[in-house]
Amino acid sequence: MHHFSYHQGRLYCEQVDLSRVADDVGTPVYVYSTATLRRHARVIAEAFTGVDCLIAYSVKANGNLAVLRTLAREGCGADVVSGGELLRALRAGIPASRIVFSGVGKSRMEMKLALDQGIHQFNVESAAELVVLSDVAATLGKVAPVAIRVNPDVAAGGHPNISTGKAGDKFGVAWAEAPGLYQQIQALPGVEAVGVDVHIGSQIGDLAPMRLAFEKTVGLVRQLRAEGHTLTRVDLGGGLAIPYHAEDSPAPPKAYADMIRDITEALGIQVILEPGRVIAGNAGILITEVLYQKPAPDRTFLIVDAGMNDLIRPALYQAHHDILPLREAGADVGWTPFDVVGPICESTDKFASQRLLPNPEPGDRLAFMSSGAYGAVLASQYNARPLVAEVLVDGDRFAVVRRRPSFEEMIALEHMPDWLS
Ligand code: LLP
Repeated sequence: MHHFSYHQGRLYCEQVDLSRVADDVGTPVYVYSTATLRRHARVIAEAFTGVDCLIAYSVKANGNLAVLRTLAREGCGADVVSGGELLRALRAGIPASRIVFSGVGKSRMEMKLALDQGIHQFNVESAAELVVLSDVAATLGKVAPVAIRVNPDVAAGGHPNISTGKAGDKFGVAWAEAPGLYQQIQALPGVEAVGVDVHIGSQIGDLAPMRLAFEKTVGLVRQLRAEGHTLTRVDLGGGLAIPYHAEDSPAPPKAYADMIRDITEALGIQVILEPGRVIAGNAGILITEVLYQKPAPDRTFLIVDAGMNDLIRPALYQAHHDILPLREAGADVGWTPFDVVGPICESTDKFASQRLLPNPEPGDRLAFMSSGAYGAVLASQYNARPLVAEVLVDGDRFAVVRRRPSFEEMIALEHMPDWLS
């Protein structure tokens, strides 16, 4: 469910006419819906009623400060994977006690920052990281709360680029290695084991692989407890899919929550979840303006002013985003196929092939739907294009929550060496 729909032939976000946003702010621009973000956070929280649960929103999906503050006010914690994401979460008002730190490559500096802040948990992904974390913590006179991220060797389906839970993926520690690491934790001065962590991938629409991975993980928790480790938490990661096509029907949060309740309730344990896409994905769109139609012998290209530097998902994962015109097409307009492409000098700068659209003319605006997660966060300045702007809508008001940088700002970090001045 989201709050983007047509009213009298114009696409709105909540009560804001999106053409007005495009006029005021220019294109390309991401637009996020507060009501949708809130709704998703609440649906998940309600699905887990009765479960001792920390919903640690995965900042990587959309780390805009205004988005994070909106979710902080809904009571979300945060799952972060860098010092920068940690600082964003804190700046947005998410308390350190509700932040977990994941990722395979934490630096000593990032560990120190997180220890100084007193975060809830480190999800540790290798023996080597464990030793360094213990060392950093002990030097500070602290003890880091740790969950080992295990690799359950479960294939999650979905696109191979976003599957993380198979042996051979760089994530987590091999299943057989995990018990030894918990032994090692007992011998290290700066770490204590508090839980077990698992995350098998993203955009997972079928609960079966999740159930398999979570049952294995809970089995490991029982085994480790029997071996004398006092584990009070299990972190089950993120990964729930959203419908990118209208006809998709991925597992709903309620079914996901019931499955997790079923598996974990006998344990008397805190369940940590790291949802990203399911909260932010359908809460955002990217608006672009049509620049040209370019007929070729076998197709017509529709050239728009957004590029793969603004939304890389189609280029990187062959991802589908529905494309809606901001002005609804009349019944008399014919729909014809277009290859929708951006201005970037790369053949992969293509949003859609042979997509039926109602003959968009130069100056018309289009919306790439379901772009709220892994959209703006993955944007770059490739081809010296300014970073895409972001807008947050709340009811009948909207605000620019990241403005487009000026050319001078874009080059401000660069320096001419004296021999070239
Ligand atoms: N926790 C961990 C440890 C993760 O690696 C991820 C996502 C999440 C949680 C959040 O997963 P979600 O609930 O959003 O599925 N850029 C790709 C997706 C990459 C996902 C990376 N990890 C895309 O656009 O599809």
